[in-house]
Amino acid sequence: TRRLVLDTDGGVDDCVALWWALGRADVEVVALIATWGNTARDDAADNLRRILHATGHSDVPVVRGAEGPSGPAPLEDRAAHVHGDDGLGGHAGGWPTGPVAASDEAVATVLGRLVADHPAALDLVTTGPLTSLAGALAADPALASGFRSVTVMGGSVLAGGNALPAAEANVAHDPQAAATVVSTHWSTAQPPLLVGLDVTMGALLEEDVELAAAQASTTAAGRFLAGPLEGYLAFYDSVRQTPPGHLPCHDLLAVMAAAGEPVITATETWPLAVDTGGGAAWGMTVADRRPVPESTLGTFVPWRVALGVDPAPFRQAVRDLF
Ligand code: BDR
Ligand code: CA
Repeated sequence: TRRLVLDTDGGVDDCVALWWALGRADVEVVALIATWGNTARDDAADNLRRILHATGHSDVPVVRGAEGPSGPAPLEDRAAHVHGDDGLGGHAGGWPTGPVAASDEAVATVLGRLVADHPAALDLVTTGPLTSLAGALAADPALASGFRSVTVMGGSVLAGGNALPAAEANVAHDPQAAATVVSTHWSTAQPPLLVGLDVTMGALLEEDVELAAAQASTTAAGRFLAGPLEGYLAFYDSVRQTPPGHLPCHDLLAVMAAAGEPVITATETWPLAVDTGGGAAWGMTVADRRPVPESTLGTFVPWRVALGVDPAPFRQAVRDLF
């Protein structure tokens, strides 16, 4: 069993990822951290609670994390044009959040308790800005030695940016926080995994296949997700970063990878940095791709950067949701 702690900003692809994880018998969602980004922090928390309530998982705790960036950021506005005002393309309304409130306990305190209860047994995955996680690491540096694995949906090493010319949205929302996370010495068995645009833009869903399956579905997942996915496709069709009728589902790919699904087919281990300056590359994820002499290993923090993806199990997982 994979035990996931998911730090998420509650947008369309975040919600697809959560539905997938909750439906898996071999995945336990241990806790959710709601972070600002795709929408306001509290809307993110409510969207997560809506899904937990609709799927009978209201026992999964939702913790309210950061409400805005930890410092200056090149992308400060929430992505209402991508995910709608409510994070779900305007479709959140009819779905009750259920009776269980989100917690206002500090993220560091919650994570500290979780890793004490499950030593080196939790898989941490982030699908939003890294503000909450960086803040927790600053408050309790020992958290870096608590997790079994760390997976971050964010960044882009070879593929260029999406929200900005050089920056992926989750990093652009808080470059300083991302810089903290990529320079943290995580004591996981394998280096942390960056699932960025290099792979998420190589695994696209199709309007006529996966979206059609959602639209035709009468399951709760279909009724909940079809409208938000239609809006997400309309955004991608408008920005033309994908072929017409094709849309990514970034956060689902990262969560599947964190859960051990065979979606990532190639990685390179590179040290990473994030541009925290104010120029054209602000928010860019920079990998040192030069060959590094053995003798200098240990002086930088290696990350596994996902570069190869198999879309087949990813697309199948989406169809299986409906
Ligand atoms: C990331 O940004 C958000 O809009 C998505 O939910 C995903 O986490 C992709 O750049
Ligand atoms: Ca997200």
